[in-house]
Amino acid sequence: MVFAPLDGAFCFMANTILIGAQWGDEGKGKIVDVLTEKADLVVRSQGGANAGHTVRVGSKEYILHLIPSGILRKNKVCLIGNGVVINPASLVKELDGLKQKKVSVKGRLFISDKAHLVMPYHSELESCAERLKGKDKIGTTLRGIGPAYGDKTARTGLRMADLIDDKRMESRLRDRVRDANRLIKAFGGKAVSFKTVHAEYAKAAKRLKPFVANTTRMLHEALEKDKEILFEGAQGTYLDIDQGTYPFVTSSNTTSGGACTGSGMPPNKVDHVMGVIKAYTTRVGSGPFPTEDDAIGDMLHNMGREFGATTGRPRRCGWFDAVATRQAVQVNGIDQLAVTNIDGLDKLPEIRVCTAYRLRGKTIDYVPTISEDIEQLKPVYETFSGWQIDTTKAKNWCDLPLKVRKYLKAMSVMVGAKVEIASVGPGRNQTIFR
Ligand code: GDP
Ligand code: IMO
Ligand code: MG
Repeated sequence: MVFAPLDGAFCFMANTILIGAQWGDEGKGKIVDVLTEKADLVVRSQGGANAGHTVRVGSKEYILHLIPSGILRKNKVCLIGNGVVINPASLVKELDGLKQKKVSVKGRLFISDKAHLVMPYHSELESCAERLKGKDKIGTTLRGIGPAYGDKTARTGLRMADLIDDKRMESRLRDRVRDANRLIKAFGGKAVSFKTVHAEYAKAAKRLKPFVANTTRMLHEALEKDKEILFEGAQGTYLDIDQGTYPFVTSSNTTSGGACTGSGMPPNKVDHVMGVIKAYTTRVGSGPFPTEDDAIGDMLHNMGREFGATTGRPRRCGWFDAVATRQAVQVNGIDQLAVTNIDGLDKLPEIRVCTAYRLRGKTIDYVPTISEDIEQLKPVYETFSGWQIDTTKAKNWCDLPLKVRKYLKAMSVMVGAKVEIASVGPGRNQTIFR
């Protein structure tokens, strides 16, 4: 597909994986919504309701957790792939929210029958684990994501295919509740009742059954018809279970490979990987964050910005980290960048960018493996002159102040990928194509 952006330049989209290249909340939902205009299919392939993707359409704000952000564009088909973990009650709530806002999903939302379920005992086990970790807690969203992926890997998980077959579900659930309660009791948590869970899940099953499908087959049918597919990443590169700041990560592969395994997409059919980054950096929850700076956090929080879309927690804030982002460009194969929240820096006289780290007297240009080492990093900063101009009304690349364009150019050179999209506000029309 040829995407014709506002300034008349052309940007090639085809099959694109969109990835968060920092610690999540980069503005993926907003960019997916904009790109969906030209896509045929939007696919979520990992994570669960730990994600919170905000889309602003006119005066309405939508926060999507499990349903792809593409759902807000009429006639677009959305798939929740096999790699996503689903809490049926959360999904029903999300469907109700869309219905209330008059967004029809009929005939265009499909859920993989292979997707694993998040169960009430997962959330309870997670609460226990976080409590027992004390000050070392991960600061998870408490949505049961880690234990659900744990069961998947341990091959004891329940799937959507089980949910919609009550006989199957009933016998499996009985065993799982029994086993989970043993653990919950050992942890000093609150046991779950089979009867209650069974009734709750049976109710959700009735509602969700019409959406359950073999989404991998649907994806391949779309590929055969040369449809344009957009993969909506959740979380971000440094929350990836393998590539992130372990153990302060989520439990899925948030990097581009996860889009393939989590949907059945063959890697050789992927044309582009777009990385979404903020013009600064944020992180929610515990864990190392080399460029964290409370002053920039206070400024953004005072503007009413940077509160989590899922948990409402204030996000930790810091400067743009070119070292970490360059590594994200490498591990994801990012060839296009979308830079969001540029307007968040509008008031600053000076803007810092981390160009290297110092660790135990040495200069390094990569993110170390051990979280205690990452905690010790001293960022080496380059300072850019701030633009101190309101960017929120800019419509074209040339409307952006020269200092913004210089900043974006420097980011692009430092991380090794082209900036194709600049976002200067939450609205659809606050998106500028290169
Ligand atoms: P996601 O998880 O990556 O989809 O991001 P979130 O929705 O959790 O957080 C991004 C926040 O930034 C949301 O409140 C968006 O509405 C907002 N946002 C996205 N792009 C921009 C931008 O360019 N400027 C401003 N002011 N807000 C933006
Ligand atoms: P989106 O898709 C930001 C963080 C949590 C915690 C860690 C593990 O909106 O960018 P989990 O509940 O996944 O086990 O928590 O990961 N986290 C996110 N941070 N954005 C997200 O999603 C996140 N999803 C999980 O805060 O630090
Ligand atoms: Mg978010």
